[in-house]
Formats: sequence, C-alpha cells, structure tokens
Amino acid sequence: MIIVAITGASGAIYGIRLLEALNELNIENSLVISDAGKIVIESETEYSVEEVIALADTYYDFNDLTASINSGSFKAEALAIVPCSMKTLSSIANGYGANTITRVADVSLKERRTTVIVPRETPLRSIHLQNMLTLSQEGAVILPAMPGFYSSHDSVDDQINFIVGKILDSLKIENNLYKRWE
Ligand SMILES: Cc1cc2nc3c(=O)[nH]c(=O)nc-3n(C[C@H](O)[C@H](O)[C@H](O)COP(=O)(O)O)c2cc1C
Repeated sequence: MIIVAITGASGAIYGIRLLEALNELNIENSLVISDAGKIVIESETEYSVEEVIALADTYYDFNDLTASINSGSFKAEALAIVPCSMKTLSSIANGYGANTITRVADVSLKERRTTVIVPRETPLRSIHLQNMLTLSQEGAVILPAMPGFYSSHDSVDDQINFIVGKILDSLKIENNLYKRWE
C-alpha cells in the first residue's frame, strides 16, 4: 500500500501520473488531495478532481482527522507527496499535523517509513531549503521535479514519466518509465 498525497503546488500531473503508474503495476494505493490541490488539478490539468479520485483504490478526506489513515496503526509501506507545496513542506518539517496530509506525513516519518517529498517552487528562499534539510535529516527523500536531459526526452510526457520513474525508484518499485543512462 502506497499513500499518494497531492497538494496545491504546480505539477498536479506528476501525482496523477504516479497513480496511473501504480495502477499499471497493480500496486494498491490510497489517495489524499488537499483543498488547494483540487484547485490546481482543475486549473492546470485536463482531469477533473472526480477523475483523479477514481484512479485511487481508496480515497481519504483532507479534513477528516478521524479517518483510519491518520493513525500509526494504518498499514502503509510508503508515502509520496507529489507535488508538495511550500506550505505543506513547512507544516511537515515543524510537526504541524493539522490536516490528513501533514498528519499522514508525521506518521510516516515517526514510523520510519519511506517518505518521498516532491517539492515544487522556484526560486527557493532559505526557509524552504531549511525545511527540506530538516526533512532529509529525518530520512525523507527530497525529490524535486527537476527533469534530466540525458535520456533523449523529447516530449512533456517523457519529462513527466522521468520524474515519476524516479519517484518509483525511491519507493523501490521496479519500473521502465524512463530510459536509464547507459
Ligand atoms: C495554480 C496554482 C499554482 C500554485 N503553485 C504553487 C507552487 O508551485 N508551489 C507552492 O508552494 N505553492 C503553490 N501555490 C500556492 C499553494 O496552493 C498555497 O500555498 C496553498 O495554501 C497550499 O496548500 P496545501 O499545501 O494545503 O495544498 C499555487 C497555487 C495555485 C492556485
């Protein structure tokens, strides 16, 4: 079980493509979308929020802190926050679990589970970098959506698959989403 969280940073398509890839690989997933994440999905992708929710095996409400996913007893191997806004990054770095995504991240880090964070902002200010350092020191994988240009990517779709392939690599999930350097 992989938990996927989509927040209100640009790049909602990375989270959507990750859900599609997990489905193609028959890997069970749970999904949470922040309120801002829903706005970004509608404004920068061709998907409706309902279509994204339909990609998930199980969907959990962003504001329902009583949902089972908020507990350390919820069985999950890993969490991927894709994309991760600077607000959510800050909340997680400071242990401020005020919604399902930040609480699930709190649980994932305290239980020492694989936690992949795909921050998206540019340029970065010092506090953004400090928050990333804090989370990296706690064991999170900080995986910025920085496409590589070394494997003949020639379309936006290739670039999206490159980042999603890297996320799957960090989750230790075999994939062929991008052409590896030889
Ligand atoms: C279209 C759009 C794009 C945005 N892109 C970013 C972004 O790339 N990075 C970021 O940190 N915030 C971005 N924001 C602002 C966040 O959505 C905002 O800070 C929000 O409060 C984050 O809430 P959340 O972390 O609960 O999703 C964007 C907002 C909109 C409407």
